[in-house]
Amino acid sequence: MKLSIASSLLVSTAFLFEDVHASVHHLRGIRQSSRSPPMTGIGRRVGMSGDLQNSGDVKYWTNVTMGGKSVALLLDTGSSDLTVAGTIPNTKDLGKTATLNYAIGSAKGPIQAVEVVYEGHTITDQAFVLDTSGVQEDDHGIIGLGPSSSSIVHNKLNSQAGLPVLDNIFLHNTSTPNFISIILGRSDDPDDLYPGDLTVGEVLSPYENITSTPKLDVFDVKDSGGQHWQTLIDVNGVLGPDGLPVNATSHVKGSDKRRLNAIFDTGFTLSQVPQPVADAFYLRVPGAKLQNMTGIGLVYTVPCEAELNVTFVFGNVSINIHPLDTSTDDLGRRDSDGMPICIGGFQPIQASAVDDSYDMILGMTFLRNVYLLINFGDFVDGKDGKTNDPYIQLLPITQPADGHADFVSNRLDGVDNTANLHLLPASVLPAIDENPDDNKSLSEKIKPYLPYIIAGSVVLGLLLILGVFFCIRSSRQKRYRRLHDPAPAGLHTQPPFTSYQPTSRY
Ligand SMILES: *[C@@H]1O[C@H](CO)[C@@H](O)[C@H](O)[C@H]1NC(C)=O
Ligand SMILES: *[C@@H]1O[C@H](CO)[C@@H](O)[C@H](O)[C@H]1NC(C)=O
Ligand SMILES: *[C@@H]1O[C@H](CO)[C@@H](O)[C@H](O)[C@H]1NC(C)=O
Ligand SMILES: *[C@@H]1O[C@H](CO)[C@@H](O)[C@H](O)[C@H]1NC(C)=O
Ligand SMILES: *[C@@H]1O[C@H](CO)[C@@H](O)[C@H](O)[C@H]1NC(C)=O
Ligand SMILES: *[C@@H]1O[C@H](CO)[C@@H](O)[C@H](O)[C@H]1NC(C)=O
Ligand SMILES: *[C@@H]1O[C@H](CO)[C@@H](O)[C@H](O)[C@H]1NC(C)=O
Ligand SMILES: *[C@@H]1O[C@H](CO)[C@@H](O)[C@H](O)[C@H]1NC(C)=O
Repeated sequence: MKLSIASSLLVSTAFLFEDVHASVHHLRGIRQSSRSPPMTGIGRRVGMSGDLQNSGDVKYWTNVTMGGKSVALLLDTGSSDLTVAGTIPNTKDLGKTATLNYAIGSAKGPIQAVEVVYEGHTITDQAFVLDTSGVQEDDHGIIGLGPSSSSIVHNKLNSQAGLPVLDNIFLHNTSTPNFISIILGRSDDPDDLYPGDLTVGEVLSPYENITSTPKLDVFDVKDSGGQHWQTLIDVNGVLGPDGLPVNATSHVKGSDKRRLNAIFDTGFTLSQVPQPVADAFYLRVPGAKLQNMTGIGLVYTVPCEAELNVTFVFGNVSINIHPLDTSTDDLGRRDSDGMPICIGGFQPIQASAVDDSYDMILGMTFLRNVYLLINFGDFVDGKDGKTNDPYIQLLPITQPADGHADFVSNRLDGVDNTANLHLLPASVLPAIDENPDDNKSLSEKIKPYLPYIIAGSVVLGLLLILGVFFCIRSSRQKRYRRLHDPAPAGLHTQPPFTSYQPTSRY
């Protein structure tokens, strides 16, 4: 059985996030108040209060009650199991153990059952893996929101007792419609500090008309252990910064070559896209470099001033990507001329993440731009959809004019010089290899590497947090300043924040 794609879980340094998160939140308030008044946008999300928490745009998590105790779980649509570390009261042992492989390390331990209260629903005996690996912080874990056919615990127990949380909710309370919806906030959005929300069986106001967007079929992966929430992008449905379709073909066997197959995964900080897509997004930006960065792998870097508008089209609906997601400004890196360098939010898919059942993984840099609805159909209870097919709906939430205004205020200190960007001619792009993977089956090859694939995103995540931390910290003097020093070395062993005391400094 194939491993499910791991989330970008930062287990070994998870404890850092508590501190950092608190700091980021605290400081963001200060940064906010020192800004010019918010843009007059469409006032999206006004009045909404989400139940997610957003740690510097790299992790989105939620509080869940297990055995009467509140724990913090990362949202992961890319995996299908529940795991938590620490002492959970009132559990029953189910007599088996399981190992769940994630980006860094793995969760490993006994499979137990406990009462779980989530989104107002109570599940009496929810199976989970009590992570005794010792790397994860107590009372922290992951809630997998993927299809149950990919659940390791369900597979191990081989019975209904091993079903994931959502399947249990849908099965036990038949008045709950079989769908979830997710919206992820953007922490550096000047006029919107909304962290995000997840709902089970209901749609969020004011986005009710997501239900009238096209229903995108969930692509049926024949090997059910590899099933994810994935669907096909339209023909010519990836538009580069020049507004023209990117020339890229699907390598998924037996599917229309002209339509790229994309997984939606809340666990990935950086989206993973085919090389031709990443080339088209970044290579024509003067100063762009494809660099192998420590812990991140091959990624494009571009000058932070370069505003890149890119778009994905699903079912004739265009999803505009916010320019603050297309390039992420947080490393404080500078080129030889001292100009700030940003990291492309759409990374050429890491060799070890390639699989022949999909072309790309759309993570947080994409998902912050949509309201996402996943209808499980009868994919519940470990079954494939037979009579009631699952589907996905996407409502675009990034208005190009708002994105542009945010970019100018965030990156350019309010001075709109974006018209100065002149893309290099398309001839700089490498020729497209029409049949890159036709003769290869990569799904076997990927197994041993899977746990490490997203490690890069995790390290970036830490750096992003550092970046946010430092830039906001410096915002007392200046409205916007980038991190000047490289991130401290030895991050994993020497947390830089242990002595940080928000209250005594501000
Ligand atoms: C989650 O729980 C923590 C600790 O109990 C609390 O500080 C936080 O506000 C809670 N978050 C939400 C969104 O309820
Ligand atoms: C069942 O689900 C509905 C709608 O999601 C909810 O209003 C109701 O409280 C749930 N009932 C129980 C017993 O959890
Ligand atoms: C949703 O409602 C808005 C405002 O009424 C409208 O502009 C938009 O086209 C609608 N979208 C869909 C998919 O129906
Ligand atoms: C990037 O660098 C690392 C460490 O130097 C190396 O192991 C890895 O193979 C390199 N990756 C690529 C794609 O060149
Ligand atoms: C998209 O638009 C084209 C042309 O108008 C139409 O033929 C096609 O059916 C539409 N696709 C969807 C999924 O709505
Ligand atoms: C990006 O899109 C916005 C909104 O349409 C536009 O104002 C801006 O000029 C575009 N920027 C570039 C570099 O194309
Ligand atoms: C796309 O790539 C193919 C194959 O390299 C080439 O023949 C075609 O002209 C390209 N189309 C565009 C619009 O660049
Ligand atoms: C594909 O693989 C087969 C069997 O391994 C080999 O005979 C054939 O030459 C390969 N085709 C290409 C285009 O590499």
